Amino acid sequence: MGLRTLIKKKFYNLKFSKKKNSQIKNQVILITGASSGIGLGICKKLIKDNKIIAVYNNNESNLKEIKNSNLIYLKCDLVHLNNYQEIEKKILENNIELIINCAGQFGSNNQSINDLDFDNFVNVLKLNSLSVLKILQLINNNNKIKHIKKIINMSSEGGSIEMNKKGNAYIYRTSKSALNSISKNLSIDLKQKFGISVITIDPGNVKTNMNNKGYLSPEKCAEYVVDIICDNKDYNGAFINLLKKNIPW
Ligand SMILES: NC(=O)c1ccc[n+]([C@@H]2O[C@H](COP(=O)([O-])OP(=O)(O)OC[C@H]3O[C@@H](n4cnc5c(N)ncnc54)[C@H](OP(=O)(O)O)[C@@H]3O)[C@@H](O)[C@H]2O)c1
Repeated sequence: MGLRTLIKKKFYNLKFSKKKNSQIKNQVILITGASSGIGLGICKKLIKDNKIIAVYNNNESNLKEIKNSNLIYLKCDLVHLNNYQEIEKKILENNIELIINCAGQFGSNNQSINDLDFDNFVNVLKLNSLSVLKILQLINNNNKIKHIKKIINMSSEGGSIEMNKKGNAYIYRTSKSALNSISKNLSIDLKQKFGISVITIDPGNVKTNMNNKGYLSPEKCAEYVVDIICDNKDYNGAFINLLKKNIPW
């Protein structure tokens, strides 16, 4: 890492130097993308005091290492929207109160207009945007939605239409804009019908498999995400960063 990058990283992390001590207790929590990066960080932070249903796709090993009876983990490739039977089983057996949707992919390497891989485009849309709705449909159709209190959707500044100054990344940007639209719509629909809060978060620049040059640790990110969830202020319908600042849609 060059000196310039080191300095940038240092300054970035200074914004998150405040230790956040918020805790969630005694809830049943569904986390997608719980097997690595941000989702894993949140899972590890919450596992001691909550029951966690963790969804993974390829990477079982990190969850296996946790060894805590509060953890249930299951494999589901969320791209296959008609193949969520394992998740549905857990929905039926539990009263899920909090959902944290972290599963996501960036999409194929080259996303310029001349190289767009449309099959990959559709799959990423299914994963990054539609899987959130599909899980909720299963919860609703099994009469379990009344137990849900909050839904957290891990989006990205890259999905902000207003902030887009660089272009490119068609697949990722479109999938996150779609997620933002779904998330905002849910925040109106589910709030009115069931009193559920839906919050859209941009986690920032986090060092994970998706972003191996990221600055912030997944553990620090998890601390700030949990702090948002526990905040007395209801961020329903907002698109915010880890410092609770609004991001334009
Ligand atoms: N890191 C950042 O700087 C950053 C910035 C903005 C937004 N985000 C968002 O934060 C979320 C978490 O990303 P991350 O950075 O933590 O990346 P990550 O470490 O690559 O984690 C991605 C997670 O998604 C799961 N996943 C991928 N494809 C899946 C599929 N087909 N079915 C089910 N699960 C699947 C992975 O499961 P397996 O490992 O088991 O395959 C993994 O648990 C993503 O939505 C991402 O867009 C991240």
